[in-house]
Amino acid sequence: MSKKAIKEDIFWVGALHPERKLFDALMPLPYGTTYNAYLVRGSEKTALIDSVEPEKMADLFRNLEDVEKIDYIVCNHTEQDHSGSIPEVLGKYPEAKVLCLQKTKEMLQDLMTIEDRYFQVVADGEEVSLGNKTLRFLHLPWVHWPETTATYIPEDKILFSCDLFGSHYSFGDNLFAGGNPAVYKEAREYYAEIMMLYAKVSAKHLDRVGALDLDYICTSHGPVYDQPQRILDLYDDWMRGGPKNLALVAFVSTHGSTRIMAEHLAAAIKKQGVEVKLFDLVGLPLNDISSTLVDAATIVLGSSVVMSALHPYAVNAAFLIDRLKPKAKFAAVFGSYGWSPAPLKEAAKLLPSLKVELLGTVIAKGHPKGGVFAELDALAAQIADKHRAAGLL
Ligand code: FEO
Repeated sequence: MSKKAIKEDIFWVGALHPERKLFDALMPLPYGTTYNAYLVRGSEKTALIDSVEPEKMADLFRNLEDVEKIDYIVCNHTEQDHSGSIPEVLGKYPEAKVLCLQKTKEMLQDLMTIEDRYFQVVADGEEVSLGNKTLRFLHLPWVHWPETTATYIPEDKILFSCDLFGSHYSFGDNLFAGGNPAVYKEAREYYAEIMMLYAKVSAKHLDRVGALDLDYICTSHGPVYDQPQRILDLYDDWMRGGPKNLALVAFVSTHGSTRIMAEHLAAAIKKQGVEVKLFDLVGLPLNDISSTLVDAATIVLGSSVVMSALHPYAVNAAFLIDRLKPKAKFAAVFGSYGWSPAPLKEAAKLLPSLKVELLGTVIAKGHPKGGVFAELDALAAQIADKHRAAGLL
């Protein structure tokens, strides 16, 4: 997509990347992604807000073809998908100053070569005038890096929120999110995989952002929010709301025994009145799992025992679940083994960061039989009791 107006003298000038399959060599991108840069033309000065992933630099420069002078390059975030083209932008516009926090300057100089003379350091809350438009800088640490900053233009009621509120959604010609449910689904997965880990320390930023007069929220990935309250309300629920009456059951099975246990347990949980989402870990459906973790009150992990250990897919999933730091309150483990149940008995140790109550471990020797099904039924009843006691059911 080429340059597109958002408001008078404010333009999207970034790049679409619909063919990108993974972010951070980990997160699946079913809709690709975008790297959003914005051009703000004030009556006296012109600012470029962020840049693009270097691989897509040609798109940025094509969108800047008619721009003769840039006075400021705002660096809201130093991760290279937004900052990586700044050296080349400075090469084309050597008179420009990079506006950023001191911390941002230091991190930027760690990641790439930009001489001191190009920087104009600003502080949290400071304003820089473009004439009839003002850039106000809001330091919002840990969404999701320590230096992350948002830039607000009060005259236009626009917030450039960087990664915060983003979505990996390559939007074609539809710059604005409107009420497109696919955008909000991707925004939820993006939140789960990037922001949830820091929700406890960064939720307070929602108050600061919510106090702004807003017509648009322009993120660094995905469409511009033209109904900003919608994404603010969702983030409020994701970041500050409690868990819901939902159990995640994720398993990997080598010969079908653990699968039988997983399917029986999921059905039993559902029968108890608890919503359940069941995932086979083969292929690691990370987006589905992380999205479920935003609300799940209970996490149940199932694994076969292979190579005298838990299956690597279960270990991998446990590591990711632990690092994403979801708000779950309860956890349990189940699985089948051939000759040593020890790995299953130790499995809960794979979730050291979660502040969960462990509800137990159900283990089958080989193919599950009557007693195992009764234990799974009891676990499902226990999950429901816990949800009931927590006021979720
Ligand atoms: Fe989209 Fe933290 O970079």
